[in-house]
Amino acid sequence: MNVMVIGSGGREHAITWKISQSPKADKIFVLPGNPGTRQIAKNVSGISIDDHGKVIEFCKSNQIDLVIIGPEAPLAAGLVDSLSDAGIRCFGPTQAAAEIEASKAFAKDFMVRHNISTARYAAFTQLDEAIHYLQSVDYPIVIKASGLAAGKGVILPNTIEEAAAALEEMLVDKIFGEAGSEVIIEERLIGQEVSLMAFTDGTSVTPMLPAQDHKRLLDGDKGPNTGGMGACAPAPVFTNAMLQETITNVLQPAINGLRSEGRRFIGVLYAGLMLTPKGIRVLEFNCRFGDPETQAVLPLLKTDLIEIAEACVDSRLNEVDVQWKNGTAVCVVLASKGYPEKPEKGQIVSFGELPENMICFHAGTKADGDKILAAGGRVFGLTAWTNNIKSSIEMVYANVKSVSFDGMQYRTDIANKSVKTDFGNG
Ligand code: AMP
Ligand code: GLY
Repeated sequence: MNVMVIGSGGREHAITWKISQSPKADKIFVLPGNPGTRQIAKNVSGISIDDHGKVIEFCKSNQIDLVIIGPEAPLAAGLVDSLSDAGIRCFGPTQAAAEIEASKAFAKDFMVRHNISTARYAAFTQLDEAIHYLQSVDYPIVIKASGLAAGKGVILPNTIEEAAAALEEMLVDKIFGEAGSEVIIEERLIGQEVSLMAFTDGTSVTPMLPAQDHKRLLDGDKGPNTGGMGACAPAPVFTNAMLQETITNVLQPAINGLRSEGRRFIGVLYAGLMLTPKGIRVLEFNCRFGDPETQAVLPLLKTDLIEIAEACVDSRLNEVDVQWKNGTAVCVVLASKGYPEKPEKGQIVSFGELPENMICFHAGTKADGDKILAAGGRVFGLTAWTNNIKSSIEMVYANVKSVSFDGMQYRTDIANKSVKTDFGNG
């Protein structure tokens, strides 16, 4: 089979790396890819993923049998609809189904319609109404831009003044553009967060290993929010009972709900969960693989990812026995100086040897002749997997200096929180 992966980050490197191990893979293309994917696949340049006609043309002339889409933006822009209409098989949801991520207002209403537990909320497009509501709630809140804001659209205000200022910035100053023209004011929940991704063919769901992201920049969950500074999987805090509960009360109702509303969802449904004292609540749904979670989850996947993706596209996911390796994977993000506000770019990267069961996924790099340069905020995801969480943490940090560039910053406590709750499954 010829397969094309769409995207250019650490998540797409992880997907490409995984499918490159499949005996089913003949040629693998990545649009546009990065210097990491270039080592294992053919990067495609000169085509914008916004130009659906050009993407279709490329797929046809290169006999692409399956397209796997990484990021949310092309999904929300209807790339799956365009490709499917042209007869090209896609692992990813339609535009209507991607709304579960692309519009938080839609997602919240959807959860209420389908009885999926989530925080109390209200949605607004008018500043005065939003502020009026703010004054009426007697619990701590969060404020969210409804649209896609690259992970930056959530504000946790400490005072009512801060909340009012955030509302004004979104609704009036349009700091997130159209994405903030509607806002959600939501009850603030407390607890540990877990990311549960699941494969789906639109009817059945097969969960992946539960993972934990580390969103704050600095150790001890301090500093600003980022796109994610590291991940571990499986997350030991998430018990098997919680997994069963989430399948029954969250994932399956979501997939049933999307289907009953005529929104065709094939691909990965990601539930961002908060484990609150009152039970599991959904913080958000994403319509795709999470990043960096995927960089920790896929190294533990035993089953052929192409086989799973094909089964999803062919509506026979329940025929596949999705299997996982024992043990735990830990991914540490290596970021540029200045990330997330003003990341510095262009530093030359040097690489040392990595032991077996470790991989350095490229997230934001650029090739310059035979040199690799840092080209983004999150530059690499360094992942190690062993049969227990402690040794995975030790291994990833023992080798963190095998990759280096000027100003490289990373958290030194990824997955530490999990060690306390891990009883070992290796
Ligand atoms: P979201 O994009 O909705 O997942 O929000 C991004 C991050 O904001 C989450 O991973 C949480 O850390 C935080 N967050 C979102 N909603 C809430 C909430 N209702 N209560 C507390 N924290 C939240
Ligand atoms: N790690 C969070 C996300 O992928 O949205």
